[in-house]
Order: sequence, then structure tokens, then C-alpha cells
Amino acid sequence: MSEYDALIAAAKHSREHAHAKFSNFKVGAALRAVSGRIYGGCNVENATYGLTICAERVAIFKAISEGERKFDAIAVVTDTAMLTPPCGACRQIIWEFCGDVPVVMANVKGKVETVRMSQLFPEPFDSSNL
Ligand code: THU
Repeated sequence: MSEYDALIAAAKHSREHAHAKFSNFKVGAALRAVSGRIYGGCNVENATYGLTICAERVAIFKAISEGERKFDAIAVVTDTAMLTPPCGACRQIIWEFCGDVPVVMANVKGKVETVRMSQLFPEPFDSSNL
């Protein structure tokens, strides 16, 4: 039992909706707003490949579009023994919208590891550089 159980369950649920027919690599994410609401996302692939969007960014953009602005954790769920950290593009977006949040990486079998964004993305470019 951990404070991230509901977040992991939501990411696992979203993963079931992954549109990953090109890579067959299904990813689910879930973002927790300080309001307590959880926003899920899955990867959505495209025939051009390059227009694919990752699960993490789908979850973030859904939350932003619902008016949320403050977040305190994000989870990523895959079906691999080696847990899946966010890609570089997602690290930038997570950093800009969520800051130094815990990133809870889990697999469908129940393995879980948590790292902070500042560990994954130590020297960010953001609005403080402008
Ligand atoms: N993917 C995610 O959705 N999140 C990650 O953290 C890593 C990669 C997706 C993008 C693509 O649809 C598939 O996984 C393979 O790269």
C-alpha cells in the first residue's frame, strides 16, 4: 500500500487504451493534480510515426485543458521488466508543467520505482532562462 497506488492503477487503466499499433509498446500515464483529481493518458501513435504522442504528454495536456495548473506526481506504466522513464521530450514538458515531482515508474506485474524529475532532468531549460 503506497500513496501512489491509485495513480498507478489509473496509469494501468489508461494503458489499456494505448493506440500503439506500430510499435506494439503500450504505455499508460497518470498525473495527479493538487486538487486530488487524476488525469490518465496513453500513447497515441500515427502512421507517419513522427506525430506520435507519448502517454505522459497526453495526460498533461488533458489536465491543462481541464484548467488544472498544479501537480504533485506522475506515474508511467508499461509491461516491461525494465521500467520505463519518460522520453526527453516528455521530460521537458513534465518539468515545465509539474516541476520537481516524483515520477513513479511501474510495470503491470507490480514492480515500482520512484525518482524525482530533478534526477531525470538535472539541468533544465525553462522560463527562468528566458
Ligand atoms: N512512449 C511513451 O508513451 N512514453 C514513454 O515514456 C516512452 C515512449 C511511447 C511512444 C511510442 O508510442 C512508443 O512508446 C515507443 O516508443
